[in-house]
Amino acid sequence: MRAIRYHEYGDESVLSLDEVPKPNPGAGEVRVAIEAASVNPIDAKLRSGLLEPTAGLPHVCGVDLAGVVDAVGAGVTRLEPGDRVYGTGFGWKDDGTYAEYAAVPAAGLATLPDAVSFETGAAAALVCATAWRGLVTRGDLRVGETCLVHGASGGVGHVAVQIAVNAGATVVGTARGEEATAFVEGLGATAVVDYREDDLADAVRASLAGRPVDVVLDSHADKHIETDLAAVGRGGRVVVIGQGARAALTPERALAAMFDDADIRFMSIMASMDDQRRVLTAVSPLLAAGSIDPVIEAAYPLAEAADAMAHAASPGVLGKIVIGTTE
Ligand SMILES: NC(=O)c1ccc[n+]([C@@H]2O[C@H](COP(=O)([O-])OP(=O)(O)OC[C@H]3O[C@@H](n4cnc5c(N)ncnc54)[C@H](OP(=O)(O)O)[C@@H]3O)[C@@H](O)[C@H]2O)c1
Repeated sequence: MRAIRYHEYGDESVLSLDEVPKPNPGAGEVRVAIEAASVNPIDAKLRSGLLEPTAGLPHVCGVDLAGVVDAVGAGVTRLEPGDRVYGTGFGWKDDGTYAEYAAVPAAGLATLPDAVSFETGAAAALVCATAWRGLVTRGDLRVGETCLVHGASGGVGHVAVQIAVNAGATVVGTARGEEATAFVEGLGATAVVDYREDDLADAVRASLAGRPVDVVLDSHADKHIETDLAAVGRGGRVVVIGQGARAALTPERALAAMFDDADIRFMSIMASMDDQRRVLTAVSPLLAAGSIDPVIEAAYPLAEAADAMAHAASPGVLGKIVIGTTE
């Protein structure tokens, strides 16, 4: 089968289209004939060596997939060949999903409804699991609350806005530029604030007519943790899903947050494969109904995975970049 691998760490130039043996599913695993995968920031973190794949190099890129079950390993009863599936959380311990086939834990796969295309399933898998688990499971977002989503035009952010709106929240997104602002407003956000604002917390509160924020989904905590705590009110929950550098808090801000009983919570979809499958099972009907609609800015064939990764890493992407395995 064909797979996109890297034999050394580096930029997109280290990627090669290799012919490799089809993997066999072990106990508790299924082999999926992959129709589509999507590009996520973690792919570049692994490829660059910032994070290291557990089994070392060479390594197949990619952490999510949508496709059809092709073979099942010992002990798997929930899935059978021919089932349409999607899932994420793969490709770190073992080889990933920029490939024609992958052997992955059955526990991480949810059923992909017939009404949802493989491309949409792949675009949705990691970001919907992240946004839902961040906002609903860890953030306890409730009807009528207010929600701040950072990076609202990006992969996670653009589905987080839709999930929060569906949950009955009033949503403020942060984004940069007119096109991204219009995009996020079109997803149902009440307001969009430029994440480069000097006083972002003030701008967020003003956009909510003075109401404090109940839940923040923060993918850039090193930049925004102070803003988040200044924007939330009593009992506010800040859910951190990404932090590119050291995050610092002044004692005054920390004290104010203590007086507010505010929480900083951390969330990774890698924490639980069962949980992540349960989340995607809850997301599936919303994808089928179009209530959550992942936006695909561009789709590339497998052989052009390097271009797909370069595109995804460029600023201004609206939604997701997808890689299809059929030419
Ligand atoms: N914890 C987890 O389980 C988990 C899961 C998924 C993702 N993540 C992490 O979450 C982050 C976002 O993932 P993604 O898939 O959404 O990436 P993405 O598709 O690349 O989107 C990132 C978004 O952040 C925006 N952005 C850039 N600088 C910003 C700033 N200072 N403040 C606010 N927004 C800013 C970008 O806007 P521009 O286009 O204007 O640059 C872009 O819209 C990554 O670090 C990723 O590793 C964590």
